[in-house]
Amino acid sequence: MIHLNINGKIHEVDVPPEMPILWVLRDFIGLTGAKFGCGLGVCGSCTVLLNGSPIRSCITPVSLVKDSELITVEGVESENTNIQKAWEELNVPQCGFCQPGQVVSALALLKKNPKPSDKDIDTAMSGNICRCGTYVRIRKAIHLAAEMGEESSKSEGI
Ligand code: FES
Ligand code: FES
Repeated sequence: MIHLNINGKIHEVDVPPEMPILWVLRDFIGLTGAKFGCGLGVCGSCTVLLNGSPIRSCITPVSLVKDSELITVEGVESENTNIQKAWEELNVPQCGFCQPGQVVSALALLKKNPKPSDKDIDTAMSGNICRCGTYVRIRKAIHLAAEMGEESSKSEGI
């Protein structure tokens, strides 16, 4: 049995240690937000956070993440309520396939850098490919989520 901490909950799975975490999430835990795109670690559609940093779950064996905290797209809202709001307000997705990975990478960026510049955003998001070309809206949505975060900090007096 392998114990996994995913979105703050502990899961036990009986899978081979070399199985990529993407298949464990999708087929054994029922978290299907992370998507299989290239399977080679280059498109970013399978992105999840490992201890706060983005990883490609399609090429990461489950044995490497067993003592770590994983966050998937299903856990983003409890970490940052503004990202999905901003995505909805700006109608970011087109086909939507890449968006779970985009949202997870945006969460990692905003955790490290609550007020990123265009350049910061482009650098942090460069590993997430969008075949529909939604990059401009993604950048705007990250700025909007950052502004929403700033507003809520002010109103809470932080
Ligand atoms: Fe994992 Fe493309 S499916 S990086
Ligand atoms: Fe279609 Fe990104 S919205 S691939």
